[in-house]
Amino acid sequence: MMPEYSDPFSLQAVHTFGLQAHARRLVTVQSEGQLRDIVAACQQAGETFFVLGEGSNTVFTTDVNATVIRMGLMGRQWLEPASAHVRLRVAAGENWHELVEWTLLQGRPGLENLALIPGSVGACPVQNIGAYGLEVMDRIESVRILDLATLEFRELSAVECRFSYRDSIFKHELSERAVITAVTFALPLRWEPVASYADIARCLGSSGISVPTARDIFNAVVAVRTSKLPDPRVMGNAGSFFKNPIVDGSVLDQLRASWPEIVSYPQPDGRVKLAAGWLIDKAGLKGFAVGGAAVSDKQALVLVNRGGATASDLRGLVEHVKTTVAERFGVELEPEPVMVPK
Ligand code: EPU
Repeated sequence: MMPEYSDPFSLQAVHTFGLQAHARRLVTVQSEGQLRDIVAACQQAGETFFVLGEGSNTVFTTDVNATVIRMGLMGRQWLEPASAHVRLRVAAGENWHELVEWTLLQGRPGLENLALIPGSVGACPVQNIGAYGLEVMDRIESVRILDLATLEFRELSAVECRFSYRDSIFKHELSERAVITAVTFALPLRWEPVASYADIARCLGSSGISVPTARDIFNAVVAVRTSKLPDPRVMGNAGSFFKNPIVDGSVLDQLRASWPEIVSYPQPDGRVKLAAGWLIDKAGLKGFAVGGAAVSDKQALVLVNRGGATASDLRGLVEHVKTTVAERFGVELEPEPVMVPK
């Protein structure tokens, strides 16, 4: 089968923030062979290219003179189990949420806390998606990549991926050197619920559930996310727009003196993670807008496209949020989605 080409291409419908921007052409690949051929052709022609999953963590702010390669690799395959895990290999183009739901239907829980996160399987390791007490690194055995320097496919172990909070090697050394083509998950044979995150515990409690099944957690996560996070199909957004900042304990002590109710989570290394949503909210920015770009009035961590937002609206809003939070709390916020161009 030949890859599908279309050129020049509007990127508005292929990234969830939905700014107006164009690429030189868009190519959808359906096999690893097609991917390698297109990458090789771009490299030989000296053409810029980048790979897009479902566009839920990428914001295109201008036209890009580049080929956008859309990841269309599909497939899910159970592998030989290991001692404590069942192993599942999934191609990069599969939809994340559909995968989560399918594993539950197959009687293989372990991903349910990550229900309803927008995006594709190939994107999940890049920012180490996480929610409600679980990060995808907890369930990844290895990641298969096309190495753009050698044009060979190879497998990186979870350790080699150097996962941490919203971070991995794919945002650093391998950011322009690898395309993820598949992820192998290790799901626990002896499943235990992860249900202590406040919103989830509250939701289960209000339904009278004290010993939750994986399906109960899945339902609770879907309910909480639906109530808090704007649906990108209804209003453009890219999920949390800022990372939760990690600061020294001394910074928290100082902030607590003025804001005793500040939200913080202790980290294994002794530092603390602050809730960026809380900081933005307390800075009075919920609903604040620059043109069509606004801070969501449901959840301050999410920036939304109310319709017709331009790149300069968004950049202005990001700057305003960062400056206001820095002035009020002395804390630096860092955007989470990938901005193209940077
Ligand atoms: N808060 C406010 N006002 C707001 C938003 C939040 O006061 O407008 C407070 C909340 O009351 C809560 C705290 O801030 O006490 C944290 O909020 P929440 O539990 O909603 O989680 P979050 O820190 O805003 C993070 C992730 C989400 C993930 C949730 C649940 C990041 C950057 N975001 O959000 O991930 O779903 O925890 O685990 O780590 C994403 O990355 O796109 C994403 C949605």
